[in-house]
Amino acid sequence: MAKPILVANWKNHPGSLMGVKALLRQLSKGRTKFKKVSLFIAPPLTYFESVQHWLGVGAHLATQDFSRVSKGSHTGAVTPDILKSFGVRLAILGHSESRALGETNASVSEKIKMASSSGIVPLVCVGELTRDSEGEHFEFLREEIKRSLSSLNKKSDISKLLIAYEPVWAIGKGARDAIDKVDLSQSVIFIRKVLTEMFGREKAETVPILYGGSVEPSNAKELMGSTGIRGFLVGHASLNAKNFLEIVDTLITK
Ligand code: PGA
Repeated sequence: MAKPILVANWKNHPGSLMGVKALLRQLSKGRTKFKKVSLFIAPPLTYFESVQHWLGVGAHLATQDFSRVSKGSHTGAVTPDILKSFGVRLAILGHSESRALGETNASVSEKIKMASSSGIVPLVCVGELTRDSEGEHFEFLREEIKRSLSSLNKKSDISKLLIAYEPVWAIGKGARDAIDKVDLSQSVIFIRKVLTEMFGREKAETVPILYGGSVEPSNAKELMGSTGIRGFLVGHASLNAKNFLEIVDTLITK
C-alpha cells in the first residue's frame, strides 16, 4: 500500500524565525511517525533553510508557488530550478489564495510543465467557490480541472501529478465547516471521471487526490475513511504541532 500523503501549507506563517524554530522543535516529537507518511512542509521561502536543516528521513520541502518566468534576469523572481537546488520536491500550484491574487488556469497549466521539467512534483489545487444543491459546482470543477491541466494530453506522463481538492468555501474555517464525507466522496469520483476523460482510465486511476479545507484532528479520520483520498493538504492545523501530529496519527492508524 502506498503511504498516505500529508502536505503542510504554512502560508505566510509563523510570523517570525523564532516561531518557526519553536514549531519545528515541537514537531520533532513526532519524527518516528513521519516515516509512515509522505510528508511535505511548504513554509514561506525565507524559512526554507531552517526547515531544510530540520527535515530528516521521510519529510520533504515543498514550495507554495514559484515565478512563471523563462531563463534570464528577472528581479524578484524565484524559479523552479533554484527551488529544486534547495531540495524542493513538490510545488503547490493554483491554490485559491494564489488564484485570488491573479493566478489563472492558464498560468497554472504552464507552471505544471515548468515544475515537471525541473523535477518538482506539481500538486494542483482545484475546488469550487460555492456549492449548490443543483450540482452546478461540478461544471465549475470540470472547467477548472480541464483548463488547469491543459498543457497535458493523453500522451503525457502524469505519474507524478497530484491533485488537491480544496473547496474554497471550506478553507480556513473550523472542522465543522469542512466538507462532509458523502460530498467529498462524490467530488473525488467526479474529479477521477474528468481525469479519465482527459487521460484515459488507466492513467487517471494513478493520480493521488488529496483533500484540503479545514482539516483538523477532529474530522481527519472521518474524511480519510473510504472517501477515495490519499491524504491532506493542511493549512492552519499544520501550525499547531499538537494538532498536526494528531492528524498524522489518523493517517497512519487508518
Ligand atoms: P485550512 O487551509 O486547512 O486552513 O483550511 C487549507 C489550505 O488553504 O490549503
